[in-house]
Amino acid sequence: MPTSRRPDPARSEGALPGAPAGSDLLELGGIPLRDVVLDPRVGTPSYVYDLDGMVGDARALHAAFEGAPHLVSYAMKANSAGPVVRALAEAGCGADVVSGAELVLAMRCGIAADAIVYSGVAKTDEELDLAITAGHDGILAIQAESVEEIARVDARARALGRTARISLRLNPALDADSLDTHRHINTGHDEAKFGIPLASIPTAFAAAAASRHLTLVGLTAHVGSQVTATDGYLASARVVFRVAREARGRFPLRFVDTGGGFGIDYGAGCPVTPADFIRATRALQAEHGLEDLMLGCEPGRSLVGAHGVLVAKIIQQKVGDGGRRWLMIDAGMNDLMRPALYQARHRVVPLATTTGEPTATWKVVGPVCESSDDFGPHELPEAPVGHVALLDAGAYGYSMASRYNGRAFPAEVFLRGGRIVAVKERRPLADWVDDCLAAR
Ligand SMILES: Cc1ncc(COP(=O)(O)O)c(C=O)c1O
Repeated sequence: MPTSRRPDPARSEGALPGAPAGSDLLELGGIPLRDVVLDPRVGTPSYVYDLDGMVGDARALHAAFEGAPHLVSYAMKANSAGPVVRALAEAGCGADVVSGAELVLAMRCGIAADAIVYSGVAKTDEELDLAITAGHDGILAIQAESVEEIARVDARARALGRTARISLRLNPALDADSLDTHRHINTGHDEAKFGIPLASIPTAFAAAAASRHLTLVGLTAHVGSQVTATDGYLASARVVFRVAREARGRFPLRFVDTGGGFGIDYGAGCPVTPADFIRATRALQAEHGLEDLMLGCEPGRSLVGAHGVLVAKIIQQKVGDGGRRWLMIDAGMNDLMRPALYQARHRVVPLATTTGEPTATWKVVGPVCESSDDFGPHELPEAPVGHVALLDAGAYGYSMASRYNGRAFPAEVFLRGGRIVAVKERRPLADWVDDCLAAR
């Protein structure tokens, strides 16, 4: 989480426009963000991540299991940057992957095959083959999302002469309104494409039992993202545990996995922590007499979201009829898509708070030619200049970025121990032009 502090005067030289000496500077990971963007490799727009913060959150989550057998499968879609995945692997996380490419990346970042689960409704044959053969014995489990997929995994395992471990991702058919989250990130209702409908579980059990090439090792569910109350999550976990009790006499179960989705505080508060979800889920697991099974979870956002910011430069101001004010920045919806996609709000704050008191409302917008390229109204100084940070952008930021409108992917900067440890520079715009001309 970025903090603001008064820097030592020596650091105030070379201040950004609008950030005079002695100003309060916004920090991340113990470094003023202003110093980060002034690094010649960085510039704007840039994502900046605090790896120590991510590792700290991963450790806190592990601690919530109090030594009980568990697997924290980091949902790599949230942020798949190598330094992030490596840091979380070192902090003891496995991975939840959703493509063959994520699977390869997880293993190249040091995550063992038997700490990887693979979700997703439409895995290709090539991706299934990769999962079945990864490491020496395949990944921990392919999370089958339909009865039809179970048949496809069986066919691939048979063709390879191997046995594939599967888990069943259940669709717990929760009321779509039971989670206090946006409908696009609510996945556990019966109209969602995700998971095996409860009525098909007997068929799924029969298919797994009949195959010599499948071993059913787990039951799982994931109901949605940015969940800020435990009720819906626990309702889904209850379904997983109930089905696990039915399965355990018939199959060599190793784990139950209740998914990710733990919400974070984007500024409006978040009353529960990931550890609260885990404590409540463990109590429910014990009520069902399943403590001997490993308890899995698949957090993405809650490990990385609060530890990243998107830094952008203010390009210009525009004042329209009726005093409407727009602040145009050099980051757009192609860099951070969540506001356009889910009407998400990220706080926008100047890097140097002495650019003035926040007395005016500015609509902060990007350069992309879409009305939805809009980061919403924010209280900012009367005449903002210099740079701003969009907070809590560590999850579903860069990993969803595009090059729409001929724009480059933003730079990425990784901080650890109070210093920059790695930078991925912005790709030159010529790459985009070359790509458009690449057809032969
Ligand atoms: C199957 C699965 N697991 C885990 C996650 C991670 O969710 P979050 O980032 O909200 O923790 C997702 C995200 O959509 C998902 O689809």
